Amino acid sequence: MKFQEFLNNKAKDFEKILDERLKIKEPKKLYMAMRYLPMLGGKRLRPLMAYLSCRALRHAPNTDSKEVYIFGAVLEMIHNFTLIHDDIMDNDPTRRGHKSVHEKFGLEAGINAGDALFAEAFEFLAESPLEPSLVKQLVKDVALMSKGIVEGQQMDVDFESTINSVKIEDYLKMIEKKTALLFQIAAKGGALIAGASQEDVKNMEEFGRLSGIAFQICDDLLDIVGVEKEIGKPKWSDIRKGKKTLMVIHALQHASDEEKKILKKALGKRNASDEEVEAAVSVMEKLGSISNARKLAKEYRDKAKKCLEKIPDSEYRRLLFDLTDFMVERIK
Ligand code: IPE
Ligand code: IPE
Ligand code: MG
Ligand code: MG
Ligand code: MG
Repeated sequence: MKFQEFLNNKAKDFEKILDERLKIKEPKKLYMAMRYLPMLGGKRLRPLMAYLSCRALRHAPNTDSKEVYIFGAVLEMIHNFTLIHDDIMDNDPTRRGHKSVHEKFGLEAGINAGDALFAEAFEFLAESPLEPSLVKQLVKDVALMSKGIVEGQQMDVDFESTINSVKIEDYLKMIEKKTALLFQIAAKGGALIAGASQEDVKNMEEFGRLSGIAFQICDDLLDIVGVEKEIGKPKWSDIRKGKKTLMVIHALQHASDEEKKILKKALGKRNASDEEVEAAVSVMEKLGSISNARKLAKEYRDKAKKCLEKIPDSEYRRLLFDLTDFMVERIK
């Protein structure tokens, strides 16, 4: 089956689980805010990665197990929780082509909706019909992952107020936490649910980590070169907030004094005009910062693919290769 078709079909399966699980109760505003973002779609890449990792490593390849769907939906809930709070922190009014949760329901409901989704994810996971020892392992992995994500999110925000001290290693550490960890645990959890060997589990974990790093570099690129209608969130938001993306770090390291002035007119300036941001982007282009980031994303993608070469060939492994390409070639 073609990857895009497969992704669309699976996305619907996960959406159905979320739809059934996220019922509106009292207080209505909270539960409406909690359901709103998960029901606005999104690519559903993390559940898909968990699913494919499980199917690719399962000894009985024809069993389409319910447990991995639950695990995938749990990851999507955690992902949506982080997005709700991320839009509050990043002060972004749109997400998935619509108002972000705090913009639609207010700051308080946004904070509470995120918290409620976070809790719901653990309740759902704890109820899953897996072996109790496996549930215990997954609960621990998801909890550690969540803590790692918020560490990464704090680093991301802390980096906004520094100008020259963030190094490429710091950036990589930050995105590994805020973004790659979710993919890492998706791939690991899928393999654990499949009953894979310790070696295969480790290998899939590394696959998720490497492809997740490539994914965030690409997300940062899309903030600069993407089309707002496609990405569904405000373009150039990272520049105006002074986010220390790979492109910005590279540009600051290579810029002349004159170019630095142009960069600083836009970086971290919430009111920077489109012209000022465009001038900063031109500097990044001229310095090769954008092509350098594309190159690094592809290097991580290729390293991720090396992990996939270690598992047996199957239709699901082929779809994992396609997913890895999609994670860096996507336009949204
Ligand atoms: C956005 O993730 C947040 C990042 C970690 C960059 P996605 O691009 O997967 O968002 P959705 O779920 O498809 O909307
Ligand atoms: C997202 O990073 C990381 C999360 C843990 C949510 P971004 O702040 O770049 O994500 P977007 O661009 O808003 O989706
Ligand atoms: Mg954001
Ligand atoms: Mg952010
Ligand atoms: Mg982003």
